Amino acid sequence: MILVTGATGTVGRLTLRRLPVGHAVRVLARDPSRVAVPHRNVEVVRADYGDPLSLRRALTGVHRALLVTNRVGGDDDAVFLRTAREAGVRQVVKLSAAAVADLQAQDLITRWQRDCETALTSSGLGWTLLRPRAFMSNAMSWGSSVRTEGVVRTLYGHTPNACVHPQDIADAAALALTEDCHVGRVYTLTGPQPLTAVEQTEQLAEVIGRRLRFEELEPHQARVALLRRYPGPVVDALLDSALRQKAGAKAQVLDTVRAVTGSQPRSFRTWAQEHAGVFAPDGNRRSGPLFSLEGALS
Ligand SMILES: NC(=O)c1ccc[n+]([C@@H]2O[C@H](COP(=O)([O-])OP(=O)(O)OC[C@H]3O[C@@H](n4cnc5c(N)ncnc54)[C@H](OP(=O)(O)O)[C@@H]3O)[C@@H](O)[C@H]2O)c1
Repeated sequence: MILVTGATGTVGRLTLRRLPVGHAVRVLARDPSRVAVPHRNVEVVRADYGDPLSLRRALTGVHRALLVTNRVGGDDDAVFLRTAREAGVRQVVKLSAAAVADLQAQDLITRWQRDCETALTSSGLGWTLLRPRAFMSNAMSWGSSVRTEGVVRTLYGHTPNACVHPQDIADAAALALTEDCHVGRVYTLTGPQPLTAVEQTEQLAEVIGRRLRFEELEPHQARVALLRRYPGPVVDALLDSALRQKAGAKAQVLDTVRAVTGSQPRSFRTWAQEHAGVFAPDGNRRSGPLFSLEGALS
């Protein structure tokens, strides 16, 4: 039995859809009604990392699990791993972040992810670490301003990030959950090229056939906007991370997606084509915050 967590979020949802029909799959969700179940072989169990009894129920009979957590500074990973070990789980595939490997990255969120990785690698369970760079889908956060004003606003728009398509992360996750050869492996996942926000804006404009403007935010403007959504320490972490991008720390392209999945990493243009509706003036309102929580972070 394979357990998928985070199935209402970006990577877990795509991973669930990628798992072959022949595998028995269980989804752990706080609200099962929000899970898009792809086929009959998928069972959905209501559980919460904060509720050990529900976790135990969800983990019983599971041999491999995808672990997605997002409560910065929390102990969800530790609680999940303890319960997984007791339940006899053999391997946990953890969604981490590329920044973990950067010794210059000492912000709160990266330190938390590092601690979570250590909790897994020292747990006695088999492990696989997925360390993606920024998700291309963080561009969803531009949806509202693109739709209504034709504008993309962010920090340090001329600095590159080798952002990765979430489907490539999900493809790697699905393989790690269904093949034996991924235990003890660390996969740092990037897209096919480093891209600046200005370049992303240009590509998005071409894809949706509209003129778009890029406006660079000053750090103090970004701070004010972020403080509307996140606590101060998380905002500090996001701004630190953006500074590392400005210094060029996130531009490196790696061959890992192709090496693991056998396919070339998907481009930002492809992502934009798939999500063009989000940016159309009459498009749907699936738009994220100014920054996705770790948007600037990996
Ligand atoms: N965005 C980026 O650019 C980026 C880059 C590198 C790494 N990352 C890492 O990616 C991870 C987030 O992945 P994502 O964006 O795919 O997820 P996401 O869209 O943020 O969704 C988080 C998922 O976790 C579930 N969850 C949260 N708290 C839970 C709890 N107490 N019990 C059970 N489930 C819970 C959520 O369920 P509900 O729907 O019930 O809330 C949701 O399904 C983070 O660890 C982040 O550090 C992100």
